[in-house]
Amino acid sequence: DKRLTTLDIRRKKEEGRPITMLTAYDCPTARLVDEAGIDIVLVGDSVGNVILGYDSTIPVTMADMLHHTRAVSRGVRRALVVGDMPFLSYNVDRVEAIRNAGRFLQEGGAQAVKLEGGREVAETVRVLVSAGIPVMGHIGLTPQSVHQLGGYRVQGRDAASARRLLEDARILEEAGVFAMVLECVPVPLAQRITAAVNVPTIGIGAGPYCDGQVLVTHDLLGLYGGFTPRFVKRYAALHGEIGRALREFREEVESGRFPAEEHGFAMPEEELPE
Ligand code: KIV
Ligand code: NA
Repeated sequence: DKRLTTLDIRRKKEEGRPITMLTAYDCPTARLVDEAGIDIVLVGDSVGNVILGYDSTIPVTMADMLHHTRAVSRGVRRALVVGDMPFLSYNVDRVEAIRNAGRFLQEGGAQAVKLEGGREVAETVRVLVSAGIPVMGHIGLTPQSVHQLGGYRVQGRDAASARRLLEDARILEEAGVFAMVLECVPVPLAQRITAAVNVPTIGIGAGPYCDGQVLVTHDLLGLYGGFTPRFVKRYAALHGEIGRALREFREEVESGRFPAEEHGFAMPEEELPE
């Protein structure tokens, strides 16, 4: 299989074939996602919540993102790898945005970057694209703006904000994104936006009419015990399974059942020192 490109992703929309995207933050997970035939591996700044133990994506740095993007790139052969630009890495000025975005491709081994926002990042999208860096947009619930949005909540539910989101989608398309994430947008609005733009929409909590779907891999695997948002479907319950395995190890060591004979190495008796 050859590596997917942003053109392949755009073509899927034209051909009406759904696009799949999942997160990965490390090499073995990236390999699993890639081998499952997923189109896009997103190194999300959700690494902050999922892996680094922060309660938002705001503390995540360029150094964090590059570290995880390099690990992911080593595990992926077919999928398109997209690196998520962290908080304030693209908003200060355009030069800094190009430098930071470029590092995802040059040092991280990604093929594209993603950044959050609508009209306010359009000019940044334009300069990145003209520097040869493919950009994925992200509108609706944009977690880096959680303090401005007043929490993690559905976006675009009233006429004014729905219109604004539709305009933002058109502006991003015009600025040159190859695709855009729609996060926590009502189903009919996501459908309307998807019909209004020629680039693919990839939904999370945005219903079935987007051109593709993305989830956080840890969520779909059920790797957490606690709260999962309504839009997540759990395809496995690994939290319980991992907990069971760890408790069993402890019990077997404490009771002397592990390690058994087959887990050890023998040596000739005469070689053993007195
Ligand atoms: O960081 C992330 O995982 C994301 C996806 C949820 C789209 O941005
Ligand atoms: Na993100």
